[in-house]
Amino acid sequence: MINPMPTTRLTETNRPHASPAVFAELDAGLRAGAACISPKFLYDALGSRLFEAICELPEYYPTRTEASIFARHGHEMARAIGPGSTLIDLGAGNCAKAAKLFPLLHPAQYVAIDISADFLRESIERLQQRFSHIEMTGLGLDFSNSLDLPGIVRPERRLFFYPGSSIGNFTPEQAGAFLRRARAQCDNDGGLLIGIDLVKDSATLDAAYDDALGVTAAFNLNLLRHVNHLAAADFDVRQWRHRGYYNEAQGRVEMHLEAREALTVSWHGGTRAFVAGQRIHTENSYKYRQSAAVGLLEQSGFHAAHVWTDPAGWFAVIHARAIPI
Ligand SMILES: C[S@@+](CC[C@H](N)C(=O)[O-])C[C@H]1O[C@@H](n2cnc3c(N)ncnc32)[C@H](O)[C@@H]1O
Repeated sequence: MINPMPTTRLTETNRPHASPAVFAELDAGLRAGAACISPKFLYDALGSRLFEAICELPEYYPTRTEASIFARHGHEMARAIGPGSTLIDLGAGNCAKAAKLFPLLHPAQYVAIDISADFLRESIERLQQRFSHIEMTGLGLDFSNSLDLPGIVRPERRLFFYPGSSIGNFTPEQAGAFLRRARAQCDNDGGLLIGIDLVKDSATLDAAYDDALGVTAAFNLNLLRHVNHLAAADFDVRQWRHRGYYNEAQGRVEMHLEAREALTVSWHGGTRAFVAGQRIHTENSYKYRQSAAVGLLEQSGFHAAHVWTDPAGWFAVIHARAIPI
């Protein structure tokens, strides 16, 4: 007789809360030789709030540098783009950056997309009260593998807004594939307004991703709480420490979580032992040279029409038009 497969009794506490696809992705990453968890799992409601706090940190230059570019060149951007676009905010978070552009861009419709759906819902409800004349839609979805916009999104003059250098979370190959998917979702009148972080000295980059207050550490560690919820895992946050630094050879900042001691983690359907010092890779943030950023867009179906940078050349905002097909 063949022994029956052992069964696990699912109770509310050890049942994964994620969809089967999300659970399979987490399971594969936790089992991989070099363990990894996608940075998209940094963002539950608390993760989104911690990211807002990071944006306030003196070390985190990207947000204020990008904001200075919008403040200085916003009118020029608005002239290039024109009113009446369908503004599609990719990874909108608190929607604050788009809200600042509304008085300049006068979009016909605002579509905010984010994986952190509860946080997005609250953000867009607040925003709709402030800008009642703009038609708004929030879409709580993961755009890392597909970007199929529902029929509610106006097809005319789609402008993808992708600030904060979130494109850097993808490898350059993944970034190209992502941008091509965006290009496929707009007509020849479509475009892109994107913020891209540029290569700079490693001390500045190290500090930006490992701040003195430990907010980035909390943001990274919170991913473990999120995974506990999604995959019925039993990570003990106190057993892990944050690592964030620039890997010059790879041209990217890396974030990892490092085991403080030998430990074992279990999740629904799996278990793994980690030795002290062993890591889980949780984020990459690729830094681009301006020419490489423009090249990436051009290879992905967009022509970079304008590039604006800050005086120090730390960050670029690029308006790109869809290359007609
Ligand atoms: C670095 S934050 C940027 C937030 C805001 N756009 C800004 O520039 O300050 C990245 C945002 O993208 C969202 N996000 C990350 N991965 C995502 C995915 N795969 N699909 C949808 N949203 C995602 C996160 O929840 C978060 O709000």
